[in-house]
Amino acid sequence: MIDYKMLVNEAYEGQKMAYAPYSNWVVGAALLTKSGKIYRGCNIESATFSPTNCAERTAFFKAISEGERDFVAIAIVGNAKDAEMGTADVCPPCGVCRQVMAEFCNLDFEIVLAKSYDDYQVYTLGELMPLVSLPIK
Ligand code: THU
Repeated sequence: MIDYKMLVNEAYEGQKMAYAPYSNWVVGAALLTKSGKIYRGCNIESATFSPTNCAERTAFFKAISEGERDFVAIAIVGNAKDAEMGTADVCPPCGVCRQVMAEFCNLDFEIVLAKSYDDYQVYTLGELMPLVSLPIK
């Protein structure tokens, strides 16, 4: 059983590291591996915009570069930098991040979208990405 609350909490910890001086939209992610390890991520922006990396991909690339290949769930939180806790809506992953998830995860991979520490919705990758281009096996 996945401890969603714990994973959301980890995503908020990741969000504290966000580097988002251009959009002021701070995002955090926490990626849970099958072995129980958690990799946090934050968004990292650039003055030239296109090198910007989303929080989700930061978490995935940290994990993949450490040899992880089996993933269970990711929690994602995002809000304007000065927003008060509880006022945010969910921050669904962008198409590029969904494609990275599809590369490394099964369609039952769980995506936890949180608005606050105890208000979250759980989706599967299959729900968020139908008709997906899957990796060649
Ligand atoms: N961003 C994420 O990190 N994850 C998402 O799911 C949506 C968007 C980042 C990218 C950029 O730094 C900022 O949020 C505004 O789009």
